[in-house]
Amino acid sequence: MRLAIFASGTGSNAVCLIEAAQANQFEANVALVISDKQGAPVLEKAAALGVRAEQVLPAAFESKKAYEQAIVALLQQEQIDFILLAGYMRLIGPTLLGAYEGKIVNIHPSLLPHFPGLDAIGQALDAGVSETGVTVHYVDDGMDTGPIIAQETIPLTLQETRESLTKKVQTVEHSLYPAVVKQLVCEQSGRN
Ligand code: GRF
Repeated sequence: MRLAIFASGTGSNAVCLIEAAQANQFEANVALVISDKQGAPVLEKAAALGVRAEQVLPAAFESKKAYEQAIVALLQQEQIDFILLAGYMRLIGPTLLGAYEGKIVNIHPSLLPHFPGLDAIGQALDAGVSETGVTVHYVDDGMDTGPIIAQETIPLTLQETRESLTKKVQTVEHSLYPAVVKQLVCEQSGRN
């Protein structure tokens, strides 16, 4: 099975998933990393791990449809079966959703449906909750709204800061995402 990762930023989750695949933690290759941001650090990190890394910049296309058609062409060229969003800061449109129905997942740093959208960690801190967490879910046309696959809870201490919570969230993400991908790869391989 061949996986693509979409990421806009630093790519710590992307690196973690690539390393898990390369360590044979699941039977799939990460064959392609796509970023919508010029020079996103994730591109260099993926390339250093031997993964094809492409930037596909929305501004270069006349419409979202044309942008997503270019992505679908790349995915087909690489015979990608499944897409993992890892800090991809863009809603998926009908072109991509139609081409990869039920085959796109995302990781989000909150216990959805709480705190969807931008800065979920800041939202949780501002709300003064005693726990937050991480969610992996299927992607639909909404903002962090698709069916939930797995969640892990993170308790907040009274002294919690953005920095300390970010660290906790990252630690949970880096173990939860590969574990969920392992499960999905097994399910998909059984189905195909
Ligand atoms: C992660 O917190 C992920 O949950 C969110 O964006 C962040 C990406 O971080 N969707 P990184 O680029 O993988 O370090």
